[in-house]
Amino acid sequence: METEVIQVSLKEPAQDILEKAGTIIKEGGLVAFPTETVYGLGGNAFNPASSKKIYAAKGRPSDNPLIVHIAKIEDLEKVCRDIPEEAYALAKVFWPGPLTMILPKREEVPVETTGGLSTVAVRLPDHPVALSFIEAAGGFVAAPSANASGRPSPTKAEHVKEDLEGRIEMILDGGDVGIGVESTIVDLTGKVPTILRPGFVTEEMLHRVLETVETDQTLMQGPVAGRPKAPGMKYRHYAPKGSLVLLEGEPEKVARVMQEKLLQAKANGSRAGVLCSSETYPLVEADVKIDLGSRQDESSIAKHLYGALRQFDTEDVSVIYGECFSKEGLGMAVMNRLLKAAGYSVLAAE
Ligand code: TXA
Ligand code: MG
Repeated sequence: METEVIQVSLKEPAQDILEKAGTIIKEGGLVAFPTETVYGLGGNAFNPASSKKIYAAKGRPSDNPLIVHIAKIEDLEKVCRDIPEEAYALAKVFWPGPLTMILPKREEVPVETTGGLSTVAVRLPDHPVALSFIEAAGGFVAAPSANASGRPSPTKAEHVKEDLEGRIEMILDGGDVGIGVESTIVDLTGKVPTILRPGFVTEEMLHRVLETVETDQTLMQGPVAGRPKAPGMKYRHYAPKGSLVLLEGEPEKVARVMQEKLLQAKANGSRAGVLCSSETYPLVEADVKIDLGSRQDESSIAKHLYGALRQFDTEDVSVIYGECFSKEGLGMAVMNRLLKAAGYSVLAAE
């Protein structure tokens, strides 16, 4: 199939393009679209065949549920049942925005969309193209991130093209996304609201609305025994082709050990890469050096992280050393993704 890539203006998304994209979804096809976090791969949430197509296009295991994207808060009730007060309180403050809520699903939502679960993930994104597209598509778009399974999530339309060209009908190109890491997922089906995936909306921010909220303690650890709460968490994600090792410690020590390791890698004939802050950047030499932004600027690091991981693949880097960042605020989401990408391989710089 030919994948049509269409540029869409954020200020005034062209109505005819949105109509065309909406019709593709209504007819059971797939359209990738920009959101404020990462690009999504959309299908009709109420059509089991569409969800199956999404899994096939991504090469994603079918027990890993999709997020249902809506464009109006009222539509939450068409997807979920037994909605607690907390969900409305959160929606009021954080929607539209980078927060996904897990709630009991209504019968009408097919299990193909929820990976066999009786709960469903719902999100109302904060992006003009996403919102008008969801409306044009009938209001309920099931979408995972629009990457091939195992690759970093796409933060620009070219990334989607790299992974999914020829497998989907259309890509709506809305330029670079604003945030760069996926939404915060909060599970509201248990006794205590629990963060299953850290994102832009932090535990501290959720605390302003919720009396109690916890973060799943396994988030920053390697694979654990048992069934993970968010099925997606058990798969190795965001992994570059080269081996990525993170260095932790005082900045000067990190830079020194990084340089030693990079020289060793070069001596062994490897193509070496480094992923670091603007502060570390001038202190190390490598075949491919990527500056994610200042250590002080978590939003820059989040925004550039996935593109950087992809660049190492494009440039065939086989050994990568990365810097550990603060886990405060958005840093928690950054470190969660970096640790996963590194397969939890962290070295103390001494
Ligand atoms: O920012 C985002 O959330 C992006 C954009 C496109 O909206 N979407 C996204 O989707 O990241 P995806 O499929 O890549 O990640 C969804 C995560 C997976 O880890 C999945 O296991 C979890 O949400 N999830 C979905 N439904 C769930 C449920 N009912 N219970 C627990 N976890 C669920
Ligand atoms: Mg994903």
